[in-house]
Amino acid sequence: MVSVVLPHHRYEVIVEPGALGRLGSIARSIAPADRCALLSDARVAALHGDAARAALEAANYDVLVTTFPPGETNKTLDTVRGIYDELLDARLERRSPVVALGGGVTGDTAGFVAATYLRGVPFIQCPTTLLAMVDSSVGGKVGVNVPQGKNLIGAFHQPVVVIADPLVLSTLPLRETRCGLAECVKHAVIRDASLFDFIEAEADPILRLEPETVAELVRRNVAIKAAVVSEDERESGVRAHLNLGHTFGHAIEATTGYGPIQHGEAVALGLIAACHAAALHGLCDGDVPQRVRALLSRLGLPVAAPLADDATLLAAMRLDKKVRDTRIRFVLPTEIGAVAMRDDLEPATISAAWSAIRE
Ligand SMILES: NC(=O)c1ccc[n+]([C@@H]2O[C@H](COP(=O)([O-])OP(=O)(O)OC[C@H]3O[C@@H](n4cnc5c(N)ncnc54)[C@H](O)[C@@H]3O)[C@@H](O)[C@H]2O)c1
Ligand SMILES: [Zn+2]
Repeated sequence: MVSVVLPHHRYEVIVEPGALGRLGSIARSIAPADRCALLSDARVAALHGDAARAALEAANYDVLVTTFPPGETNKTLDTVRGIYDELLDARLERRSPVVALGGGVTGDTAGFVAATYLRGVPFIQCPTTLLAMVDSSVGGKVGVNVPQGKNLIGAFHQPVVVIADPLVLSTLPLRETRCGLAECVKHAVIRDASLFDFIEAEADPILRLEPETVAELVRRNVAIKAAVVSEDERESGVRAHLNLGHTFGHAIEATTGYGPIQHGEAVALGLIAACHAAALHGLCDGDVPQRVRALLSRLGLPVAAPLADDATLLAAMRLDKKVRDTRIRFVLPTEIGAVAMRDDLEPATISAAWSAIRE
C-alpha cells in the first residue's frame, strides 16, 4: 500500500494480486452508499467487469454498469454526456461512488464524470493497464479530448482510493504492457536509481508478469508519482519532471499522426533522445543514454524509428502545450535518478538527439 498525501486530501493506493476481489469491501469502508456506478470500456467490461460487479454486489451495492467503446477516440464530451444521462436516469446520488475499471482512457473519462456529476462524487480508480497503475490513476488529473487537442477539458479530482490488481494484466496485450514499462523507466530516471537497477535485474519476471514482481514494480512507481504529486498537486513546478521524454515523444506522436507509434513507444524514443541531449549538453555522462537505451530495448520497446525531418519535429515541439514562450523547456537527466530543467539547448544538440533515434 502506498499513501498519497496532499494538503487537503489523503488516499491509499492498494497494490496486491487479487485486490479486485476486495473492491466491494474496500469501497464500503471508504464510500458507503446504497448504489454505485461501475464505468468501463466494453473490452475491459467483457474481461473483468463481472468480477468487479460481483465484488461490489457482495458488499451490498446496487451497481449501475455503464460501458462505452474502447479507445482514445472515445475519450470525449459525447461519451461523458452519455454517462451523465445514465447516472441521472438511474438517480445516482451524491454519496454514490463512481468506480473506473479500465485503462487511462476510462480513468480520465470516468474521473471527469465524477468531478462534475452533482458537482463531484467519490471516485474510485481500478486501473487495468500498467500505464494506468503506475501513472494515470494517481494524481487526480481527469479530463477528455476535444478536436482542438488532447486533455484540454478537465479538472483535478483526486480518487478516494486506488485499487491496482496485477492479476488483471494477464489479459493485457504485451505491447500495452511494454508501453507502461516505458513510463516506469521514466520514473526511475527522474528519481530512483535503485528502481532502475530493479527493472534491469527483474526484466524477465516483469515481462512474464510474475505477480509479486509486478506488484513491487507498481508500488515503487506509485511511490514516485505520489511523491511528485504531493510536492506539487497542480503542476506549477516539480510535477513537470514527469514530462521527461515527453517533449520529444509528443512531437513524434504528432508528426506520425497518433497511431503507428503508441504513446509509450514515443516516450521510450523520447527518453533516449532526452538522455542524448543531456549528455551532449554536458549535464550527464555519456553512459546514461547507453544504459537507458539498453534497458528499453531489453523490455521490447523501440529505440529507433523512421522520423520526420528536424524542422518538422521542432515545429511540433513548439506547438506542444508545455512550451513556454518561444524557448522550449526540456526535462533532462543529470544522472540516472535525477533531472534538471533547461531551456538553453542548442539547435545542433536537439538535431543530434533526433539523429540518435532516427532509423
Ligand atoms: N490523468 C493522468 O494523469 C494521465 C497520465 C498519463 C496518461 N493519461 C491518459 O491515459 C490514456 C492512456 O491510457 P492507457 O494506455 O491505459 O489506454 P486505454 O485506457 O485506452 O487502454 C489501452 C487498451 O487496453 C485495453 N485494456 C485495458 N485494460 C485491459 C486488460 N486488463 N486486459 C485487456 N485489455 C485491456 C483497453 O480496452 C484499450 O483498448 C490517455 O488518454 C492518456 O491521456 C492520463
Ligand atoms: Zn506518458
